[in-house]
Amino acid sequence: MPIKKKQTIGWIGAGRMGYEMAGRLAKAGADVMVWNRTKAKAEPLTKYGAKIADQVSELAARDIVFCMVATWTDVKEVITKLLASGKTKPKMVIECSSISLEGSAALREILESKNIQYLAAPVSGNAKVIKAGKLTFVCSGPQKAFDIAKPFLNLIAANSSYVGEGELSRIVKICHNVFLGVVTQSLAEITILAQKAGVPRHAFLDFMNQSVMGSTFTRYKTPAFVNLDFKVTFTPQLLRKDMDLGLDAGRRFEVPMPLASAARDLIQSMIGQGWTEQDFATLLLQQAGASGIKLKPENVEVGDGLS
Ligand SMILES: NC(=O)c1ccc[n+]([C@@H]2O[C@H](COP(=O)([O-])OP(=O)(O)OC[C@H]3O[C@@H](n4cnc5c(N)ncnc54)[C@H](OP(=O)(O)O)[C@@H]3O)[C@@H](O)[C@H]2O)c1
Repeated sequence: MPIKKKQTIGWIGAGRMGYEMAGRLAKAGADVMVWNRTKAKAEPLTKYGAKIADQVSELAARDIVFCMVATWTDVKEVITKLLASGKTKPKMVIECSSISLEGSAALREILESKNIQYLAAPVSGNAKVIKAGKLTFVCSGPQKAFDIAKPFLNLIAANSSYVGEGELSRIVKICHNVFLGVVTQSLAEITILAQKAGVPRHAFLDFMNQSVMGSTFTRYKTPAFVNLDFKVTFTPQLLRKDMDLGLDAGRRFEVPMPLASAARDLIQSMIGQGWTEQDFATLLLQQAGASGIKLKPENVEVGDGLS
């Protein structure tokens, strides 16, 4: 479906993810106005043609408003401020943060009571994945809302999957991130095991990445694991939030999740020991410590499969 020129976009949240996502829309020529609580973080987006709002309420006059903040509490706060005037309102809100089924349902109630269409559209991939054009959306809500949103989603991401009505996309995203936590912990365990037995991390991961068990994810975490560059892509606290969302859902639907429980507690231990300012891949360092070894960067050039 071609983009209707007259559709204007509002964007709430220019954090690690929101900045890159809004940037792709602006670079593609969409009419985007961005608001971020810390305005300075959004300002560089003007170089791609985005406008910057002083107040979130300025975005209420836009046709479609995307939201990419952190937790359900944050989403609720910004959407309440967006609609505070009670007069101007967007036609649609596309909410992309990773939040609970319950939060998403509460948001649907708020928006639909004001005749605002709502698409729940969380994502898979980090900021580098967005830059590489490989982000993916999982969407739920009315099919009509998805059809309207799709041309814009296509400007941001490589794919958008529509999984049905209501909040179904939320459980898909929660499952995805539970897998992320478990896989990362497992990758840390086997990497340290191989290293302690004598295999350099780069050699071990080179094999894993080319094997049937390798994935886009194992490839793009390889530079961090090999050279110990833990610049944040996703914080341990945000991952803990998603593990907790997964375990809450497991309780609600009566699904035992022993691996998720163990991984959640290992993430908690890492946070408790003060590893909060680096990437969640520091699970590797925690695993090394628990195995009685101290890691050094291998200083080997390894690809991330993205660039
Ligand atoms: N990073 C990833 O790899 C990744 C991947 C997929 C999904 N996600 C999900 O995407 C969401 C954003 O993640 P991120 O990594 O971009 O986080 P981030 O870098 O910490 O950015 C969070 C954004 O939310 C804003 N924010 C938080 N609380 C707010 C509030 N109460 N009022 C207004 N603005 C608020 C922040 O504003 P300030 O700049 O003012 O702090 C910032 O723009 C999270 O739900 C996360 O779980 C992340």
